[in-house]
Amino acid sequence: MTVSLITGASSGIGEAFARRLAAEGHELLLVARSEAKLAALCDELRAAHGITANYVAIDLTDFEADRRLFQETERHGLEVDWLINNAGFGSMGDFTELDLERELEMIGLNVMALVALTHRYLPGMRQRKSGVIVNVSSTASYQPIPYMATYAATKAFVTSFSQAIAEENRQFGILVQALCPGPTDTEFFENARIDPTSMFKQQQTAEDVVEAAMRAIGRGKTKAVSGWMNKTVATASLIAPDRLITRAVGAVLGPKFRKKK
Ligand SMILES: NC(=O)c1ccc[n+]([C@@H]2O[C@H](COP(=O)([O-])OP(=O)(O)OC[C@H]3O[C@@H](n4cnc5c(N)ncnc54)[C@H](OP(=O)(O)O)[C@@H]3O)[C@@H](O)[C@H]2O)c1
Repeated sequence: MTVSLITGASSGIGEAFARRLAAEGHELLLVARSEAKLAALCDELRAAHGITANYVAIDLTDFEADRRLFQETERHGLEVDWLINNAGFGSMGDFTELDLERELEMIGLNVMALVALTHRYLPGMRQRKSGVIVNVSSTASYQPIPYMATYAATKAFVTSFSQAIAEENRQFGILVQALCPGPTDTEFFENARIDPTSMFKQQQTAEDVVEAAMRAIGRGKTKAVSGWMNKTVATASLIAPDRLITRAVGAVLGPKFRKKK
């Protein structure tokens, strides 16, 4: 059976992808740590859309989690035709004050798990000459962000990696997309211990982000920034020198986090 595999499907953008793809008739394999939430979502989507929906509850930062997930799909004869690498989290603060374990875990989830799953599922897509991979990046990937240094760097990796892989796989009929949402109303900020109201005037909904991604997939786009405001800010970030941007962001976030000399 052909399935769409969504990581981080238990909330936010991943859950919105699950709802959207289920409504479009995709068979689903949902992945995250929160088993009860995944089970409830699968039940709901099966009943609402008559699709097959299953889940694997797994921590993608665990040793060899990507291998175990891949083996699980192989064992059940599942061909992953859409892979939505969405699971991720952020942190904010003076880098030296942030918990090192958590920063490394972030690289493990946002970067290593995404690379590993892309590597595992691409060969099957190549053989079948079809497939869609959406790697959820961020507008944070467009510039270095002081006081969000690791998170922005993980997302810069995701955008760069995804676009390179997109070109390598275009000839096989596979679309790889770097999806770059801006501030979005999910559990992201609470998990990162950030108060979004102090930083952004507006947030998109997870459904807005998924709508932008699906439209961009329909047009074969390898990079999608959701929302015109985010597009404007992202474009400006590409034009302005990095030093100017880091100074400006530092001036805004510095008063909250800068350590006294
Ligand atoms: N919200 C924003 O403003 C924003 C903006 C740009 C980009 N993004 C990106 O969008 C993606 C989705 O985030 P979101 O905003 O939807 O946040 P969210 O509501 O916090 O969702 C994060 C998802 O990742 C899963 N996850 C976290 N750690 C995991 C782990 N170790 N193993 C497996 N799954 C894990 C979570 O499920 P469990 O806790 O059940 O594991 C949850 O389903 C992330 O990559 C984020 O960087 C978000």
